Amino acid sequence: MGRLLPKAELHVHIEGTLEPELVVGLARRNGVTLPADGVDGLRARYRFEGLQSFLDVLNANMAVLRTERDFYDMTLGYLRRARDNGVRRAEIFFDLQAHLARGVPMDAVFDGLAAAVADGERELGVSAALLLCIVRDRGPEEAERVLREAIRRHRDRFIGIGLASAELGHPPSLFREVYAIAAAEGLRRTVHAGEEGPPGYVREALDLLGAERIDHGIRAMEDPDLVARLRAERVPLTVCPLSNVRLGIVPSLREHPLPAMLRANLMVTVNSDNPAYVGGYAEDNYRALRDELGLDPTTLATIAANSFDAAFLDPETRARFQ
Ligand code: HPA
Ligand code: ZN
Repeated sequence: MGRLLPKAELHVHIEGTLEPELVVGLARRNGVTLPADGVDGLRARYRFEGLQSFLDVLNANMAVLRTERDFYDMTLGYLRRARDNGVRRAEIFFDLQAHLARGVPMDAVFDGLAAAVADGERELGVSAALLLCIVRDRGPEEAERVLREAIRRHRDRFIGIGLASAELGHPPSLFREVYAIAAAEGLRRTVHAGEEGPPGYVREALDLLGAERIDHGIRAMEDPDLVARLRAERVPLTVCPLSNVRLGIVPSLREHPLPAMLRANLMVTVNSDNPAYVGGYAEDNYRALRDELGLDPTTLATIAANSFDAAFLDPETRARFQ
């Protein structure tokens, strides 16, 4: 364990860390009926054909999250596994709107997540922070309303915002006002773009939303001018190789654009995205790149250094990590 490369994880959805054992445990605790029986029944559903088929399963399982304690247990569990994967810093997305839509009070979500972040730092030595993730297919009006309320009631508990869920048909341009509100509050800004969506969505994220990082961004490789810009501006890309393969975004790890992205001198980081669903945590992704794509130790160390450089940390805190 001590020989793992220290790394930051910048692209992980806390709901995507809900291991099937915990889904079953929380369903029992909360009297929620699941779409399948037991851990094996749940796992049998983890065969995805694109982003939407994954989101359907993710959202169904999320129904077990009801109380502050549920959010706490899920998050501390993730932080333990992250630590065991060499993660020293985790910036964690949470789908606030999805939980509110099921009738969970906003305070329960924030209180549970924030308590686990604090205990994770103290007990595990993992620095962690929260990114409120806008659910893009619920539209910009709800996003704006929920963000304003979160700012009013819990501003000190999250450091930034993201934009995820069904990408196609929900372009970044719709969320200009949401990102302007975040910028005015001093919140950091990242955007899922170029996972299933076209390179134009990556441009919109940069030009219209002021994105400081791009989550995924792999389809940017289809556009040489955009690649040149991402390189020149050193825009961090939070790439999630095992997730891309498991969701059928790319056919196999061998065909993943990550090596080409590295050759293009893009600022690539490697992340788990939804580790309980896609076959691995942070170190599992690094290991797959080493064992299946033959990335050498120097390249992997560069990726890990990038992850700290791309983290939303002030320079002094950054210096403590590596
Ligand atoms: N992409 C878009 N939305 C998501 C993802 C993802 O990888 N994970 C959780 N919500
Ligand atoms: Zn994601």
